[in-house]
Amino acid sequence: MQNDESTPKDKWNSYDFIEEHLFNAELSWEESQRRYDQWARDGSYDKILGNQPTVYNAPLAFHDGMIDLFQDKTAVRILDVACGTGLSGQVLHDLGYTNIDGLDASAGSIEIARKKGIYTKFHNCKIGGDTPVPIPDNTYDAACMSGAFAPGHLPLSALPEIIRIIKPGGYFMNCMREEFFTSVPEYANKFLPLLESMVKDGKIRQVAWTIYPHHYLNNDGVRMIYQKL
Ligand SMILES: C[S@@+](CC[C@H](N)C(=O)[O-])C[C@H]1O[C@@H](n2cnc3c(N)ncnc32)[C@H](O)[C@@H]1O
Repeated sequence: MQNDESTPKDKWNSYDFIEEHLFNAELSWEESQRRYDQWARDGSYDKILGNQPTVYNAPLAFHDGMIDLFQDKTAVRILDVACGTGLSGQVLHDLGYTNIDGLDASAGSIEIARKKGIYTKFHNCKIGGDTPVPIPDNTYDAACMSGAFAPGHLPLSALPEIIRIIKPGGYFMNCMREEFFTSVPEYANKFLPLLESMVKDGKIRQVAWTIYPHHYLNNDGVRMIYQKL
C-alpha cells in the first residue's frame, strides 16, 4: 500500500480506492485519521462526497430525520458527532438550526468545517475508548452522526458516551451503512444488542428506524433516532 506522500491525488477520486483506504477495518485508527486530514485539506472529501445523493446520501437522511424533530430550531443545542468537513452540519444549518457544535478527531477536517461558518464551536477530540470527551453530562438536546460508525471509525463505546452528553428527553440520530451491523467486527453481534439492552433498561426509547438507499453508493443506510429517557 502506498503512503500518502506517494499517493497520486486523483486516485482519491476512485470509489474503490476510498473503500480500500478509508473504510477498511484493518487500517489503524491513526492512519485513517492521517488520511482524513489529507483528504479534507486537499478538498477531495467535499468534491467527491458533497451534494451527490446517489454517492453519499447520509446528509439527505440527516435532513429528513431532523426536519421535524424540533419545532424551534434556534432554541436547541446540537452536537454533530464526527462532523468531518461539515457536510452533515451544513444540512442542519440549512434546516434552520443555529446552535450546532462539531466534534471530530481530524484537525484537517475541522479546519475545513470551520471555514463554512455553520458551527458555534468545535471539539477536536476522539470519542470512544478510555477517555471521556471533555463535555459535561446532559449538555445537548441532540447528537447527530452521519458516517461516524464505520470500520476503523467510532468504537462501540462511543454510543454510551454520546448518550451521556445528551440531556434527558434529548435525542440521538445515527445514519450508518446497514451492512456494518454484521460486517464490522467491532459492531457485529454487539451494536444491536447494546441498543436493545439500553431500551430494556429504560435508558432510551426508539423513535424511528428507517432504511434509505445510497448511504454510500449502492449500500443502504439505516437512520435510527432514539430519545434519552
Ligand atoms: C465519513 S466521515 C463523516 C463526516 C461527516 N459526518 C459527513 O457526513 O460528511 C467520518 C468522520 O469520523 C471521524 N472520526 C473517526 N473516528 C472518530 C472518533 N473515534 N472520534 C471522533 N471522530 C472520529 C473522522 O475523522 C471523519 O471526519
